Amino acid sequence: MKKETIKIGLLGLGTVGSGVYQILTQNSKDIERKLGAKIEIKRIAVRNLAKPRALVTDQKLLTDNLDHVLLDPEIDIVVETMGGLEEARWAIASALERGKFVVTANKDLMAQYGIELLKIAKEQERNIYYEASVGGGIPIIRPLKNCLAANRIVKIMGIINGTTNYILTKMSCENMEFEAALAEAQAKGFAEANPASDIEGWDAAYKLNIMASLAFSSRIKMDDIHVEGITEVKLRDIRYAQELGYAIKLLAIGEEKQNGLSLRVHPTLIPQSHPLAAVKNEFNAVFLEGDAVGEVMLYGRGAGALPTGSAVCGDIMEAARAIKKEVQNGILEATFTEKPIISLAAQSSRFYVRLKAKDEPGVFAQLAAAFGNADVSLDRIIQKRSVEKTAEIVLVTHDVKEGNFMQAISSLRAMEAIRSINSILRVVE
Ligand SMILES: NC(=O)c1ccc[n+]([C@@H]2O[C@H](COP(=O)([O-])OP(=O)(O)OC[C@H]3O[C@@H](n4cnc5c(N)ncnc54)[C@H](OP(=O)(O)O)[C@@H]3O)[C@@H](O)[C@H]2O)c1
Repeated sequence: MKKETIKIGLLGLGTVGSGVYQILTQNSKDIERKLGAKIEIKRIAVRNLAKPRALVTDQKLLTDNLDHVLLDPEIDIVVETMGGLEEARWAIASALERGKFVVTANKDLMAQYGIELLKIAKEQERNIYYEASVGGGIPIIRPLKNCLAANRIVKIMGIINGTTNYILTKMSCENMEFEAALAEAQAKGFAEANPASDIEGWDAAYKLNIMASLAFSSRIKMDDIHVEGITEVKLRDIRYAQELGYAIKLLAIGEEKQNGLSLRVHPTLIPQSHPLAAVKNEFNAVFLEGDAVGEVMLYGRGAGALPTGSAVCGDIMEAARAIKKEVQNGILEATFTEKPIISLAAQSSRFYVRLKAKDEPGVFAQLAAAFGNADVSLDRIIQKRSVEKTAEIVLVTHDVKEGNFMQAISSLRAMEAIRSINSILRVVE
């Protein structure tokens, strides 16, 4: 189709929407050259029209009525950067039903309603592009869909939440306790006023859902993912982990094993020599293993106006190419099946445990017996310090079934010599 101008409608002009506006404006010449067509922002929907918007010179572009974008027949691509669930779900469905292509940065939405919305896109012979929903500016979705598509992906491990990585970096490099590091992340704009979704692991779980669905060609539900956040990680655990040669990171891990998929988000000890251990502050990275390509790591800024806007604009250009060439975009996601999920109890891992026990002869032997009875073998057991007849003990297990490990922990809890179990973390080698 000889379309000289592709018209887009933006839903939202907050952090990401403003980044998109800025990139499309400042790089308009380059974008036009690469596409062979102009991208014109035809309308922008916001919630509050009274808010000052220094970026937008033509106030007539703004509206507080979503229909002014969705019902405009001239708009080819709807770019959803308003966030939230139900309104965004409705808006994207309406846009597709009116024959528009859709670009979104909304991970909560794609993790929970992606399959439903992609089905509408397929029926309408349109597509939804969502590169910005995982890892902000880092290309992850398209490499999984295209460049790595011929591989069987064995494992995918990511640091995909900048807020928690920033907090854990401050704790490990500057000896800050969790609360102080969170307050600093909020002051610097890396954490939201309500940080629950980040620090409790849900933001990472939404992104794991999206990545793992593509990596393993499976329809994944949020209930399939085991989710633990970083609120219980103590500075003391970070110190002890460092002494043992590990860093603690919030990892989102997806693996395809013979009996199904293992999907989890939890704070994890990883060797300091692992490439993910070097990912600091608000940076994100995804490390994956394909049977043909081997190990690949993608690294960059996982949030922010321009990095996220970069991914959104890449998607806008992809949609524009589809419109210009009138190609019917094959929707890969429609080929997904549902693969079995391995229960947490059946999964294997090494574990780090910090506990307090009575400082008296025979306690180490009792501990070793409790683990031995549950078929859990110990790699290391170290007495850290003793205060008022209470010894602090750190131990690391070999690779064990989670069910066996939990059985050992239950028998420890029942032992008179054990005063408290203060920390349990998984270890990845
Ligand atoms: N921030 C990041 O770095 C980042 C990174 C990756 C992905 N994302 C995702 O991108 C999306 C947007 O995030 P953000 O940080 O840009 O959010 P934000 O700064 O809060 O901006 C939201 C924008 O949407 C508008 N809006 C909200 N509800 C609306 C409605 N019902 N009708 C019309 N306009 C509405 C708001 O209008 P007003 O301006 O009038 O309030 C605002 O302009 C979210 O899904 C988020 O998860 C964000």
